[in-house]
Amino acid sequence: MSLYLAITCIATSQAAKLDRSPEALEKGATIYHRACIFCHGIAGKGDGPAAFFASSYSAPRPKDFTRKDYKFRSTISGELPTDQDLFRTITNGIPGYMPPFEGLTETERWNVIAYIKTFSPAFQTEHVNTLITLEMPPRPATSDSIARGRMMYLELECHVCHGLDATGHGPVHTQGDLKDNTGLPIQPTNLTNLPSFKNGASPQDIARTILTGLDGAPMPSYASAFSSPDTSIWHMVNYVLSLSTATQP
Ligand code: HEC
Ligand code: HEC
Repeated sequence: MSLYLAITCIATSQAAKLDRSPEALEKGATIYHRACIFCHGIAGKGDGPAAFFASSYSAPRPKDFTRKDYKFRSTISGELPTDQDLFRTITNGIPGYMPPFEGLTETERWNVIAYIKTFSPAFQTEHVNTLITLEMPPRPATSDSIARGRMMYLELECHVCHGLDATGHGPVHTQGDLKDNTGLPIQPTNLTNLPSFKNGASPQDIARTILTGLDGAPMPSYASAFSSPDTSIWHMVNYVLSLSTATQP
């Protein structure tokens, strides 16, 4: 198969690791109350004290777990994240916004995932995730690949938000028009600062961000732009990586 993107459907029974027994949920609630409420709030609405007192959390606010728009997913835009997506976010944290929780054991992380999923009715009904996965391994970052990525950056109009110099000051941003789904102003990422990337900074992470988009933020999904075999997402990724002098955090 020569397609660059494979779109696969998986049932939620992927949740082999997810234990929804009353005991697991009770443990998850204890961890949530200890480690998460300060930001995400007691009822999971993203309204813990930190959301109001720490200026760095004024936008974006901590995730409101009662809403179904999740940013960090491997699924197509509009769908819920997989359990593995939630596990990755909680393990790695979100640079500048949320600490990594590697200090919790894997079982503790699965318990807290089971608990935060109880905040949204969307997770309670059986659903099928449509995953976006890449068939092709990353390509080497030759100068030709980076130049082709720069052309795609302009053709796909990334610069309208992220700017011609990719520092996040494109015309749309300068007009102050960008808001997230909660109505709060949001800034396009400075793409020359790789360690600040929230959804991971490896080539695979950046490809995932561009293909799936960040639901709830104005960063769109570009899955359809890269579905034909003659365009490669890796040129785009190589270009983004070439913008930073710093390597992966
Ligand atoms: C210091 C504050 C803080 C703490 C503590 C914290 N979070 Fe977060 N979390 C945030 C912020 C802020 C965001 C939103 C970042 C964004 O939208 O860019 C977030 C986002 C998330 C997301 C990602 C949602 C998405 O859009 O994909 C998950 C999952 C999450 N938090 C789970 C947890 C869990 C579980 C805990 C406790 C173990 C926790 N968080 C503790 C601040 C925090
Ligand atoms: C309509 C405006 C808009 C367009 C067009 C846009 N972006 Fe974004 N992008 C954003 C915003 C806003 C964020 C920050 C979201 C956040 O902080 O939650 C972002 C974030 C990102 C991130 C960082 C995600 C992370 O891990 O923190 C990357 C990489 C990115 N965009 C690449 C691109 C590329 C490549 C294109 C073109 C193919 C593009 N963007 C087009 C608005 C846009």
